[in-house]
Amino acid sequence: MNYSFKKYQPLSLRWWHWLNALAILGLLGTVLLRKTFLSWRTNAQFIEQKVTEGGGAVTPEVAKSIAQGLRDVMWDWHYYIGFGLTALLVIRVLVGLFAVKKCPATHAVESVMGLSKVPAEKKIGAIHYTLVHIGYALFYLITLYMVLSGLALYFKEAIGFSKDFNHLLKEIHEVLMWFFVVFVVGHIAGVVIAEGRGDKGLISDMFNGGEDRK
Ligand code: HEM
Repeated sequence: MNYSFKKYQPLSLRWWHWLNALAILGLLGTVLLRKTFLSWRTNAQFIEQKVTEGGGAVTPEVAKSIAQGLRDVMWDWHYYIGFGLTALLVIRVLVGLFAVKKCPATHAVESVMGLSKVPAEKKIGAIHYTLVHIGYALFYLITLYMVLSGLALYFKEAIGFSKDFNHLLKEIHEVLMWFFVVFVVGHIAGVVIAEGRGDKGLISDMFNGGEDRK
């Protein structure tokens, strides 16, 4: 078992990595906008206040519907990018089958299994590598849930799950958003720290592939 982070990154995986990063950041961006600048609660109040100041009148229901209408134009991007993420997940399976030839879950399990054979002086590094790869396996598993639950919610009328089940899917979908927040922050901090600690070129390898082309 090779516990080094420095390994050749195939071109297809590099493209996938950066497009996937864009999709995840884009999806988190839509959530951020929905919960802040485009929150219908804040904006409905604002609309009501401005219309009243202008001498007009608007019912709370109409103000809410205007605020939601404005938010929905932005929220459509959650779906466009969500479908993009769905396509990227399918592409990742193909990249795994034909280029990387390794399954992230099996890789994480193999890393755990190999730990006992690692000499004492390399143990800390190997445990670190294993934890990172368990994190990656978790990332794929949770992305799969986000995609499947997102599609189920998008096509809820056609699929016909019960209202309660759709509600549960949505609650879990919403809570798991926090995994991506933690992952993005942890991942960026992790590679930056690793660059400074001896894994030089880790980030540029994700652009140029790295030197170890086998
Ligand atoms: C990293 C990936 C994703 C994150 C972080 C994420 C996050 C969220 C969050 C936080 C909500 C709840 C918004 C609210 O009600 O306040 C939500 C709702 C939703 N998401 Fe995602 N999502 C992701 C992927 C997807 C994908 C792949 C799809 C599929 C197209 C999707 C479709 C939906 C749908 C249909 C809703 C329900 C909207 C509603 O009921 O108004 N999401 N998402």
